Amino acid sequence: MKIKLYDKTFEVSLPAKEIDEIIAEMGKKMNKDLEGKKPLFLCVLNGSFMFASDLMKHITVEGTEISFVKLSSYSGVQTSGTVRELIGLNENLEGRTVVILEDIVDSGITMFGTKATLSKMNPAEIKIATLFFKPDALKRDLTLDYVGKEIPNDFIVGRGLDFDGLGRNYPDLYTLCEE
Ligand code: IMP
Ligand code: MG
Repeated sequence: MKIKLYDKTFEVSLPAKEIDEIIAEMGKKMNKDLEGKKPLFLCVLNGSFMFASDLMKHITVEGTEISFVKLSSYSGVQTSGTVRELIGLNENLEGRTVVILEDIVDSGITMFGTKATLSKMNPAEIKIATLFFKPDALKRDLTLDYVGKEIPNDFIVGRGLDFDGLGRNYPDLYTLCEE
């Protein structure tokens, strides 16, 4: 099936049912790994809203909490370029096991920076869980603790991921068609 967003056409590359299974598997693994750790899940908005919602239904670990953060990007004064500030975090991370929930890791720059920011708040450990990962695009030395599915270096939408604000609502994953 195909969808059109603005002037671009996208085609289903991973059906919703398969994504559901991938997320259920990840949840099972987390339930084993995180037992006794009272994990704090951090959903990175907007892209991860659907992934977080689907995943959390599978988590049975005692003391599980979830919070929602956003990365506001603005042009910083630093020469390094864009500074992404983490907003909406009200929890004390001291001594906590934090599990970041991300929709997709592309270059890895976003997660690398986010992990560095959260590290300063003295958590016991930080784990990264991403629904999708483009290994060929990775530009940072980044450990991903949970990867739903590795995908080719193509532009995708659906399951929370957007193209300029559109496409987040589709349960299937779509890939941009060539030409
Ligand atoms: P990174 O910093 O390059 O790893 O980029 C990660 C962020 O870019 C993700 O959180 C997404 O919001 C966005 N992104 C990367 N690849 C795609 C894609 O194929 N479709 C939609 N958004 C993407
Ligand atoms: Mg994102």
